[in-house]
Amino acid sequence: MSDLAVYGLKDKVAIVTGGSAGIGKGIALEMAKAGASVVVAARNSERVETSVNEIKAMGNRALKVVADVTKREEVDSLIQQTLQEFNTIDILVNNVGGILGVKGGRPFLEASEDFWDGILDVNLKSTFLCSKAFVKLAIDQKKKGCIVNMSSLSDRAPYVSVAGYGVAKAGITNLTATMAVELGKYNIRVNAVAPARIETSLSTGLYRDMPEIRQAQLKSIPLGRFGTPEDVGRVVVFLASEAAGYISGATIVISGGLTHLF
Ligand SMILES: NC(=O)c1ccc[n+]([C@@H]2O[C@H](COP(=O)([O-])OP(=O)(O)OC[C@H]3O[C@@H](n4cnc5c(N)ncnc54)[C@H](OP(=O)(O)O)[C@@H]3O)[C@@H](O)[C@H]2O)c1
Repeated sequence: MSDLAVYGLKDKVAIVTGGSAGIGKGIALEMAKAGASVVVAARNSERVETSVNEIKAMGNRALKVVADVTKREEVDSLIQQTLQEFNTIDILVNNVGGILGVKGGRPFLEASEDFWDGILDVNLKSTFLCSKAFVKLAIDQKKKGCIVNMSSLSDRAPYVSVAGYGVAKAGITNLTATMAVELGKYNIRVNAVAPARIETSLSTGLYRDMPEIRQAQLKSIPLGRFGTPEDVGRVVVFLASEAAGYISGATIVISGGLTHLF
């Protein structure tokens, strides 16, 4: 392998959950640029198809899988469809998560039990289910593997906008470190990224009708700009590559210099 090839993903097969929009799409496209074949999994068939077509247009192989990754049977089917197409899986990016389309915030006192369950399912349970299925396969195939989880800067301090979101992301950061310790002996690396202030439908949707909040957020970012899905995608490519071969259990903050949200 040449010196620079260690930063690439040539001949690797990667699943990106939620790779049809926002940060996940940025990750899927950056992984394809780095040479990977990419499986894009999300619920809305049309958006998954668009993402897959963009990757194919770059000359890479890509697979469309319509799945809700909070459901175990659909996760199992995602793994099976990937195996049918590629025979193997090298990288899993657990990007799915978010705030269930909330606009303007949903603090603790306003959150229902269903809302709480939904936030934990989409962020934390999806990560657990996909990781379990991927790890089982990697151990069966006696292959090294790599997982990148999607945490958030909201993992480390009280997060008051959306009840349960910070809790779920703290869980993902902890699960990342726990899995790294347990799975090292199988040559499986597990890391996470913790973005903040990345412009997607999630972040702009939360404060859509509150331009003053957006302006205050912008002022708080040391680098003076919002982040892009590509900013996150490039870090995920690095973590998934051989260049990061001795990194496991880490959570890398991608926030333009912001160190806490509140
Ligand atoms: N934006 C930020 O500033 C920011 C900051 C920190 C962390 N994050 C994290 O980054 C991740 C992506 O956020 P984003 O801003 O890119 O969100 P987004 O624009 O809302 O995109 C979410 C993606 O996940 C898919 N998805 C959602 N629920 C799903 C499910 N149950 N099963 C399968 N796919 C599902 C969506 O497609 P379908 O709806 O078609 O399924 C879409 O592709 C999340 O984990 C979020 O918490 C974002």
